[in-house]
Amino acid sequence: MLDTLDKIESQALKSLEAIEDEAQLQEWKVRFLGRSAELGTITDKIRELPKENRPALGKRANEVKTRLEAGFQARAESLRLENLDQQLRGEQLDVTLPGRKMVYGRIHPSNQMLRRISSIFAAMGFQIYRSREVESDEYNFELLNMPAFHPARDQWDTFYTMDENILLRTHTSPGQIHVMRERAPEPIRVILPGMCYRYEQITARAEIQFNQVEGLAVGANITFTDLKGTLVAFARRLYGDEVRTRFRAAHFPFTEPSAEMDIECFVCDGEGCTVCKKTGWLEVLGCGMVHPRVLEYGGYDPEMVTGFAFGMGPERLAMNIHRIEDIRSFWANDLRFLEQF
Ligand code: DAH
Repeated sequence: MLDTLDKIESQALKSLEAIEDEAQLQEWKVRFLGRSAELGTITDKIRELPKENRPALGKRANEVKTRLEAGFQARAESLRLENLDQQLRGEQLDVTLPGRKMVYGRIHPSNQMLRRISSIFAAMGFQIYRSREVESDEYNFELLNMPAFHPARDQWDTFYTMDENILLRTHTSPGQIHVMRERAPEPIRVILPGMCYRYEQITARAEIQFNQVEGLAVGANITFTDLKGTLVAFARRLYGDEVRTRFRAAHFPFTEPSAEMDIECFVCDGEGCTVCKKTGWLEVLGCGMVHPRVLEYGGYDPEMVTGFAFGMGPERLAMNIHRIEDIRSFWANDLRFLEQF
């Protein structure tokens, strides 16, 4: 029997070496380690032998089994490596090929401009205050000194909801009232960026959706000079120290007096071109001293404090700076446009 075991062992290990693939390996396993393999039959026979003969044979049988199992594992592993090796040889790797181009995301030109504006005012001590896009008629108009049927309302064509008192804000100015009511009687220095909506015919110059950045300062002894100083400093940081500015008288119901700030056209240096429509100037923003009634609505005593406010459109500013001719490009999601920024 010992001879048979020796024979099984050498035969099994030898044929293991000849194995070339997984299928043959499985066949080998059935033949030498399976249920009806010779090794199993011998083990059964050993059990029937007289007691004193069993240990030596049993030990040897176990040993053969362990070796065959180890041999099987080793061959399985080496087959796996051979396959992998062949697979890798089959695949050609050209390390001189150029890499794949990475596609980077970008910050939308509106947001780039919003960030520039925000950081300039942040450096001047303005906090950023976020205010709601869905407003009431009261905040969007009444508390800004435009009672129902006031003709000035015509300047802001409005998207109303089913409830005519609830609307999409037409400007960021209602945010002024929210900040004042939250902070009164403390002084205020904030900017309010965000989306606004107008019920308008969409053209190259007008969109139904656009951003604004509102500014508001309220406190003791704030004057028109503070307003001018702040806005000129802003213009210099945005357009460069050389920029020339001018303030024109204007009218807004929520400021008194009101003005608009222009900068000298940087395309033609004031000569007059298509960008500035031959005027030599570009309109940048609206501004003014907060109307006493608006201060009052905000919870301040107009005898004690004054304030200034301003509002600008980042898309408008970006259009001038980047010479974008059609405001519709901002929301058209055309990568050929967006990838330029
Ligand atoms: N809300 C105005 C608009 O949408 C812009 C504006 C003008 C805001 C003067 C102000 C301001 O705060 O003082 O056209």
